[in-house]
Amino acid sequence: MIPIAKPVIGEEEKKAVLEVLESGILAQGPRVKAFENAFANYIGTKHAVATSSGTTALHVALLACRIKSGDEVITTPFTFIATVNAILYCNAKPVFADIDEKTFNIDPEDINEKITRKTKALLIVHLYGQPCDMDAITEICEDYNLRLIEDACQAHGAEYKGRKVGSFGDAACFSFYPTKNMTTGEGGMITTNNKDVAERARLIREHGSRVRYEHLTLGYNYRMTDIAAAIGLVQLGKLEEMNERRIENARKLNEGLKRIKYVTTPYVAPYVKHVFHQYTIRVKNREELVKRLGEAGIGYGIYYPKPIHREKLYLDLGYRDKLPVAEEVSREVLSLPVHPAVKEGDIERIIEVVNGE
Ligand SMILES: Cc1ncc(COP(=O)(O)O)c(C=O)c1O
Repeated sequence: MIPIAKPVIGEEEKKAVLEVLESGILAQGPRVKAFENAFANYIGTKHAVATSSGTTALHVALLACRIKSGDEVITTPFTFIATVNAILYCNAKPVFADIDEKTFNIDPEDINEKITRKTKALLIVHLYGQPCDMDAITEICEDYNLRLIEDACQAHGAEYKGRKVGSFGDAACFSFYPTKNMTTGEGGMITTNNKDVAERARLIREHGSRVRYEHLTLGYNYRMTDIAAAIGLVQLGKLEEMNERRIENARKLNEGLKRIKYVTTPYVAPYVKHVFHQYTIRVKNREELVKRLGEAGIGYGIYYPKPIHREKLYLDLGYRDKLPVAEEVSREVLSLPVHPAVKEGDIERIIEVVNGE
């Protein structure tokens, strides 16, 4: 079996967890602080605020950017549901812009079409580890005075024109779920250069409280544990190497798959460092291929079989958008194993099976 995802956990992570258990400080403590500092330093932002998941990071980031009831937030329909649900958590309204046919990321031209007087922010997603078109997006934000929140949950270490994603927005969110490029079990992080956003995020993460039993605003318990942060510190140290292995695996997959007529290999935009959270091909005969992969013991993923506006939750809310690119792409995408534990022989096997040999 070649799994679609596998966390790389070694002795160092185990040792780091044991040290925390022995220290007796298990909840948000010194490791969380150290992980925040190391992560901010890695991304190149002034602040980082750790949370319990990518989803809670998104919720906190939107609130910290003062998104509220009645605001419209433009986002992509081609993402994990947490991106869009975070807007609903704030009682704001998600507005969908279609995606670019080649990168599968939000299309800046369609963003322009969707802006109204109520638009307050863009929530963009660097899908599969490939940065969005940041020049076009930051220009829109400047022109219309919009807040920018990056969902970088799949893009730890990805770069746009040599600058790391997570450093462009008013806030950016990362996930450390076990399938991600680095993990803490469950966990999330908000990065920002904005002091006000960072301070609000810290408050909201902790029941609106800076000093115990003084509650200044409505908040939540979205804290990270020191156990998770200890794992995160070790994983962050390995991230570049793990990403290089993903990139190398993607290169080898490209080499073998580009010869197969019915396969479209992933497009990588110029100026980006794509960190291949997912290696996603496009095929017309997905059902047949999925069957073959299953029989051969090769894990695969379909991210995502339905664009968000077609999910029951959103149909029930009255969404009837026509987003032709997202709709077509969701019928054809198929992700193949690319994670650091995928070996040379696995890649040969994947190529053989996709080729039908
Ligand atoms: C694009 C995107 N946004 C948000 C999330 C939510 O992160 P988490 O699962 O850590 O809550 C994920 C991952 O699951 C994701 O892939």
